[in-house]
Amino acid sequence: MNWHSRYLQQAAWTRDLRVYLFEQAELADAHHVLEVGCGTGAILRELTPPACHGLDLEPASLAECRIHAPAVSLTCGDAHFLPYPDKYFDIAYCHFLLLWVNDPLQVVCEMARVSRSVLALAEPDYSQRVDKPDALVTLGRWQTESLRRQGADPSFGGRLAEIFHQAGIKLVETGPIQGQEVMRTAEDWENEWAVIQADLEGIAPGEEIQQMKRLDEAARRRGVRALHVPTYFAWGKT
Ligand SMILES: C[S@@+](CC[C@H](N)C(=O)[O-])C[C@H]1O[C@@H](n2cnc3c(N)ncnc32)[C@H](O)[C@@H]1O
Repeated sequence: MNWHSRYLQQAAWTRDLRVYLFEQAELADAHHVLEVGCGTGAILRELTPPACHGLDLEPASLAECRIHAPAVSLTCGDAHFLPYPDKYFDIAYCHFLLLWVNDPLQVVCEMARVSRSVLALAEPDYSQRVDKPDALVTLGRWQTESLRRQGADPSFGGRLAEIFHQAGIKLVETGPIQGQEVMRTAEDWENEWAVIQADLEGIAPGEEIQQMKRLDEAARRRGVRALHVPTYFAWGKT
C-alpha cells in the first residue's frame, strides 16, 4: 500500500474546505503551526508559515514526511501527550486523525492546551454511510467492520463538535464537508480499490470482494453509483 498516494487522495477531497478554514483561522499571519498525526506530510507539504511542526507516532511516516515537507520540524510522539508548552502554536490542526486515537477528548484537550486555534479538518462517520445500488451496502458494512478491527472508531465524526465543546473550545464553525470522495480518474478508482482489498483481507472471501468490485465498476459505468460517508470538520478558539 502506498500510503502517501492514499493521503494525497484524501487531502484532495478536503482541499476546498481546508483553504477556507485556514483563511478563517488566519494561517497567513501564523508563526507556529502544528499538524497532529501528520503522516507522510500530504498537507504539511503545502504550508508556508515560518515555523511548521508535525507530530506522528510512526517513525516510517515521519521519514517520508521529511522528504515531502523538508522545511517542517518533525517529532515522533503521541498525540495524547503533546511535547510542547502551553499556547506555543497559533494553529494546531488534524486531518483524519481522531477516529484512530484511543481517547479523542484527551487529544483535543492537548491541542487546545498548546494552541490558540484548533482545527479538526476531516473526521468521518461511517455509521451514516450511503451506498447505491443497494447490492453495494454489504461493501460498506465490510469496510466499517474493517476500520473497527484496525482500531478506529468508524462513527467518531458524528461526535466531533461535542468533543470540541467538552474540551472547552469555543466553536467558531462546524458541520459536514461538502463534495468529498470525488473519484475523477481511473487511477483514483484503482487506488481506492487497492485500499479496499487490503482492508477487507480476512473480513470477506476474495471472490465476494471481486464481485463487489465488478458491481462497483458496472454501477459507475452506468452512472448509478452513489457513495457518501458524512465527514465532519470543526474549528474553534481556546
Ligand atoms: C489516516 S492517517 C492521516 C495522516 C495525515 N494527517 C493526512 O491526512 O495525510 C492518521 C495518522 O495519525 C497517526 N496517529 C494515530 N494515532 C496517533 C497518536 N496517538 N499520536 C500521534 N499520531 C497518531 C498515524 O500514525 C497516521 O500517520
